[in-house]
Amino acid sequence: MHQMSMALYRFLAAIGRTQVMANMLGTAALIAIYILGGFVISKDSLQPWLRWGYWTSPFTYAQNAVALNEFLDDRWATEFHYANANTVGETILKVRGLLTEWHWYWICVSILFGFSLVFNILSIFALQFMRSPHKHQVNINAKKMKVLCNSQIVGNGSASTDQVILPFRPLSLVFDHINYFVDMPKEMVKYGVTDKKLQLLQDVSGAFRPGVLTALMGITGAGKTTLLDVLAGRKTGGYIEGTIKIAGYPKKQETFSRISGYCEQSDIHSPNLTVYESLQFSAWLRLPSNVTSHQRNMFIDEVMDLVELTGLKNAMVGVAGATGLSAEQRKRLTIAVELVASPSIIFMDEPTTGLDARAAAIVMRTVRKTVDTGRTVVCTIHQPSIEIFESFDELLLMKRGGQLIYSGSLGPLSSNMIKYFEAIPGVPRIKEGQNPAAWMLDISSRTAEYEIGVDYAEIYQRSSLYRENRQLIDDLGKPEINTEDLHFPPRYWQDFRAQCMACLWKQNCAYWKNSEHNVVRFINTFAVSIMFGIVFWKIGSNIKDEQDVFNILGIVYGSALFLGFMNCSILQPVVGMERIVLYREKAAGMYSTMAYAIAQVAVELPYMFVQVFIFSAIVYPMIGFQMTATKFFWFALYMVLSFLYFTLYGMMTVALTPNIEIAAGLSFLIFIFWNVFSGFIIGREMIPVWWRWVYWANPAAWTVYGLMFSQLGDRTELIQVPGQPEQTVKEFLEGYLGLQDRYFNLVTSLHVAIIALFAFLFFLAIKHLKFQRR
Ligand SMILES: Nc1ncnc2c1ncn2[C@@H]1O[C@H](COP(=O)(O)OP(=O)(O)OP(=O)(O)O)[C@@H](O)[C@H]1O
Ligand SMILES: [Mg+2]
Repeated sequence: MHQMSMALYRFLAAIGRTQVMANMLGTAALIAIYILGGFVISKDSLQPWLRWGYWTSPFTYAQNAVALNEFLDDRWATEFHYANANTVGETILKVRGLLTEWHWYWICVSILFGFSLVFNILSIFALQFMRSPHKHQVNINAKKMKVLCNSQIVGNGSASTDQVILPFRPLSLVFDHINYFVDMPKEMVKYGVTDKKLQLLQDVSGAFRPGVLTALMGITGAGKTTLLDVLAGRKTGGYIEGTIKIAGYPKKQETFSRISGYCEQSDIHSPNLTVYESLQFSAWLRLPSNVTSHQRNMFIDEVMDLVELTGLKNAMVGVAGATGLSAEQRKRLTIAVELVASPSIIFMDEPTTGLDARAAAIVMRTVRKTVDTGRTVVCTIHQPSIEIFESFDELLLMKRGGQLIYSGSLGPLSSNMIKYFEAIPGVPRIKEGQNPAAWMLDISSRTAEYEIGVDYAEIYQRSSLYRENRQLIDDLGKPEINTEDLHFPPRYWQDFRAQCMACLWKQNCAYWKNSEHNVVRFINTFAVSIMFGIVFWKIGSNIKDEQDVFNILGIVYGSALFLGFMNCSILQPVVGMERIVLYREKAAGMYSTMAYAIAQVAVELPYMFVQVFIFSAIVYPMIGFQMTATKFFWFALYMVLSFLYFTLYGMMTVALTPNIEIAAGLSFLIFIFWNVFSGFIIGREMIPVWWRWVYWANPAAWTVYGLMFSQLGDRTELIQVPGQPEQTVKEFLEGYLGLQDRYFNLVTSLHVAIIALFAFLFFLAIKHLKFQRR
């Protein structure tokens, strides 16, 4: 069985090809194999024309083999005559519709082996012949393409005189004697380092001014990103010393996030939005609430022009490296998302890394235009070409260990910087035509420093350049007369209601366009409903014996668990992806976590209601439950409640765990418990006493209870139970399954309680657990 399952799922993954698709096929296959395997509904209760389904389910063979092995044992050999069975064991097999002769055991084993062989061979074929999905990049039709080309030409030619309509206040940023420490990493403690703390920045001071483009450079590991994170207040751990001032006033993080933008090195965007929607969302929540939506849209258009994204307005963002925008377009989107907030100070971490020369030039042109609007911009940058390097005004150079070794203007053709370093004795002169950036990094590397025998950091501290910088820092560190500190009364630009609306609008756009997710969801719901309907055709209308009740219990159990769990598992990747975006948007101070959480839950509801509607409308009449309004209402209500807790459970597990693999693992583990103790596989009365609390703590069990009782709790037809007197359905439910009147209300309220609990935990976890470390 195990080999067969692995082969089957390998095969499904190979033909599904994307995670969502594979998840869907996996769930669908699981449901089909399980339902048709003779356990949930016995073979004899299946429609004659569905028997083939029984014989094609691998589960059938596994179940038969295991059952034969057990019930043909001597322990079960006590004589008992029922139909043409002669022992207790055979009777059990017969009643359950299973095979009764021993030779079938080996046949079943061989068939299972055959299944695993076939599935493995099929997966080889699938891997060989099926092409990888998602090869398409952005789809732009010819007309749009023309616009795009034109805009690029205009972009190339135009001088950078774009006028931005939204006012912003030009602000300088000064930082003085910044030290940053982290707790000593465990790996280094192992190597015998005894210090408690590791210093990543040492006494770094400097100033960034409006309209000046500053490059932050240094070899890899020098501490560039660390410095940006510290200045922008994006560090989640560690200890910061020193002062940071904005326009002469001490920096406060709440106000700072309102006037600054941070383009992170990784371009994190919701994949299912268009470029325009991403910008609208950012502008909506990051511009003052007195900006009208008309002004906002005009401003967005202007920003799109500035970063040359107008032609891609309606292109989907997509997943990095797979669909949608190319790396360079994503980078420009990252910049645009920050720009539409009209920030005064912008940090960019390696905006050109990973781009080819042309793409890097486009991005740098964007950056340059931004600076020329009078904003303060700082970029960390790696291996720039000469042109890119010379488009910067100032340079901040760091060496390993987080020390500053140069801070000042580059000068024409980088002459100031070259002069400074060449004046240091022993430093080799720059060669004719050499890239000054490359030369500078070369001579300041640790080995070069060692060869020449100097400490650049020390030299810098004694230089006249340093004294000039001190003077500048002191000047900019004092507020100008007639200015006042930044002050924004509420914590966010928009009030709570608007935040909820914006988040819901965004989630809704993203959900609607996530076609794979929707297709999987609704096709699966439809397919499972039809399958349940066919397999359990009319079993609810004619109850004659014990097995009929078990079959109904089977459909109820299937309804309570499978679709809900499918929802939970296809939801997790979506929620996991959004959480990464949440971290960025929270850091930018766009909305409160509560607004986000409410939107995330609310956007699910309509989709869920449609699912429940499809399921109930198909399954309920097909299985022949009584057509009364009350009973249908109870059925639909329990389905809604069960979908709700599964959905919230899925969200909660994502919020509680660092990644979706762990979330999936955890929810599957719990799902097994919910499954086993739902009252179907083993009735409540038969669960050992010390395990019975699991039944009562199990929402799936409550759903099965509620569905069973609301459908059959008042049925009084007599049924046959082997070895017992005839009894009514109601009595059987009470006596054998322990489903009584008195717990019914409790069970219904427990649903509501667990939904509230999961929602609450989801919110708490999203708010307080940060799995992002920087
Ligand atoms: N939280 C942390 N704990 C321990 N060490 C850290 C931590 N964060 C960064 N470092 C170390 O600090 C140094 C500086 O890191 P940082 O990411 O700032 O470098 P960088 O200059 O941005 O390099 P790159 O050019 O590769 O992006 C690195 O050696 C890094 O390993
Ligand atoms: Mg870095």
